[in-house]
Amino acid sequence: MKSYINILEVRDLCVQAGGKNLLDHLNLTIPDGEVHALLGQNGSGKTSLMMTIMGFSGYTVTQGQILYKGQDITEFDICERARLGIAIAQQRPSTIDGVKLRSVLLYILRNEENPEERLVKLAQTANMEGFLDRSVNDGLSGGEIKRAELLQLLAMSPVFSMMDEPDSGVDIESLALVGGLINKLFSPDEKRKAKRNSGLIITHNGKILELFNIDKAHVMHNGSIGCSGNPAIILDTISKYGYEECVRCIGRQ
Ligand SMILES: Nc1ncnc2c1ncn2[C@@H]1O[C@H](COP(=O)(O)OP(=O)(O)O)[C@@H](O)[C@H]1O
Ligand SMILES: [Mg+2]
Repeated sequence: MKSYINILEVRDLCVQAGGKNLLDHLNLTIPDGEVHALLGQNGSGKTSLMMTIMGFSGYTVTQGQILYKGQDITEFDICERARLGIAIAQQRPSTIDGVKLRSVLLYILRNEENPEERLVKLAQTANMEGFLDRSVNDGLSGGEIKRAELLQLLAMSPVFSMMDEPDSGVDIESLALVGGLINKLFSPDEKRKAKRNSGLIITHNGKILELFNIDKAHVMHNGSIGCSGNPAIILDTISKYGYEECVRCIGRQ
């Protein structure tokens, strides 16, 4: 029986890396089944938040908790968090020389009924058939890297996905494709019928958020969430007045 309301709850989180305070008493709640957007100026701490929730070493939690499905996972390592259904698409993932994208996907899909068939279908959806036998991310353009990351997320179909600027470096024509893949990721699937997967999408650019339903947007400022609310209103304010005005408004609160 499900005993939680929120898929993610970050409470009073303070994080340091390299002797620097990156997150400062940050609070964030994402109810189960909701997809939220995380906006904010460069250097405000968006990537650090995602990496800390995923459990990357190098980000030291000095205060606060991360709860996933109501369970405190603050001390869990990255593998445990992945097994619980948390996954990310990085903005600039590393190249993995000698490991084919096909091998990674087949490993992810190893427990499916027909992994080969499913792999081909997913690769077609992401327009990535031509990249399956190349090393992961080797020589890929910005847009291709985003599609490769999303393809792996789609294969995993995680309960909670975070993606770091899936629209950066993506040209206008490919934006619709990337938007479609994200939409698919958050649509109810065969395994969890009538249930929307949850997520957090980090972006600078409101365009991608027009392509699917976002439940709430948050603006990060100096390592914490400065403002949360209706995505359309927040995006409209940012597009009209820029982040500078957003930051001034947060400062006045
Ligand atoms: N490992 C690290 N060591 C020291 N400083 C870091 C580290 N990672 C990020 N930072 C700094 O933390 C701040 C927030 O970075 P980041 O989370 O990447 O912001 P954003 O994704 O919003 O652009 C930046 O000033 C960045 O230089
Ligand atoms: Mg970033």
